[in-house]
Amino acid sequence: MNPVESPLRSQVSRADFFARVGYSTVWEDERVIDEALEPRASETALSITSGGDLSLQLALTCERVVSLDFNPRQTWLLELKRAAVLTLDHDQLWELVGLAPSAHRRQLYERARELLSEDARRYWDERPGEVDAGVLRCGKQDRYLQWIGRVLTLLQRPGTIREYFAIRQIDEQQRFFDDRWNGRLWRFLGAVLFGRTFLDFFFHKDHFRYARQDQHPGPAMRAQADRTLRDVPVWSNFYLHWLFFGTYRDRESCPAWLRESQFDRLKLRLARLEIHTAELEQFIFGLPASSVDVFNFSNIFDWVSQETFTGLMREVIRVARPGARLCYWTNVVNTRRELGSCGFPELEERAGLGQTLHRESRTPGYSSCTVGRVRKPA
Ligand SMILES: C[S@@+](CC[C@H](N)C(=O)[O-])C[C@H]1O[C@@H](n2cnc3c(N)ncnc32)[C@H](O)[C@@H]1O
Repeated sequence: MNPVESPLRSQVSRADFFARVGYSTVWEDERVIDEALEPRASETALSITSGGDLSLQLALTCERVVSLDFNPRQTWLLELKRAAVLTLDHDQLWELVGLAPSAHRRQLYERARELLSEDARRYWDERPGEVDAGVLRCGKQDRYLQWIGRVLTLLQRPGTIREYFAIRQIDEQQRFFDDRWNGRLWRFLGAVLFGRTFLDFFFHKDHFRYARQDQHPGPAMRAQADRTLRDVPVWSNFYLHWLFFGTYRDRESCPAWLRESQFDRLKLRLARLEIHTAELEQFIFGLPASSVDVFNFSNIFDWVSQETFTGLMREVIRVARPGARLCYWTNVVNTRRELGSCGFPELEERAGLGQTLHRESRTPGYSSCTVGRVRKPA
């Protein structure tokens, strides 16, 4: 797609955080795809790449998926995931990305490498250590999350963690959390792990550019962590499993694109996935009118001003097909960009659905999930 004249620019794309892979897995509950975006076989999706998982999931259904990120490293990671699916078998895919032990990740990478662009090849060739470790571990956020998992395992003790993950009933899980987990140690850890010092070390201050100034992020993050650990069934929470064990329970309890049952289908459908490196603020102006049915925006509006948000929503309405669905998250410390704040009658919020998805989300870290629909004449 050619660059186009656009009145908008991202305010954070040049931040230090984006000088490397920020996210090697997507940490937004993938249920949002089926339950809020409801993709159909004949439809086109526009999806923020991030770790690539949700763009790959959309490719399992949609006719066309346009995946977009301003950080080229996220593009190269998604290219590698796509190449791995296309060139390897399912066991080898799990080995290459770091979910199963492997003594020959470099050889597996060599096979996938054939399908990479020049830029992606150069990037991964220069990072043999990240390939050897398994690329799902390379994201800055992923390192932070898995580091938390290691610290907690050490302090709560491995046996306690194993016991917790074996629980299948929610009331038992809540009792376990109240009696065994939520002690002084956890409260102390919460203050440290979710304190500004740690967050600023692992993330970039631009993450908090539009953060509510009246509030330290710690208590809100702690409350989200408590909700996830206590009230969301741990047995089906593959996100938490990955955080603590660095892999998934089995070949089905994992993001959709990694499931064994989806593997052959995904291989056949990857030609539908187009990967672009660009700011949404620029890219969306180049899309034809009435061409997109599904918008997965991750939580990118945490990093835009109200003015930019309104400008982007105007474009969303232009490029949306009638009845298009959209979704975005808000980070726990950020101010939600209200869909209604733009004053466009075409944007209809599905508040109840957004609240349910947020309340039941298997990942902590967000203060809301916004789901909407675009009403315009056919
Ligand atoms: C918003 S971040 C959040 C990640 C998410 N919470 C997760 O864990 O998966 C996801 C991606 O959005 C990209 N991004 C942020 N703002 C963007 C923009 N305006 N245009 C294109 N990509 C953007 C970042 O580079 C990043 O890879």
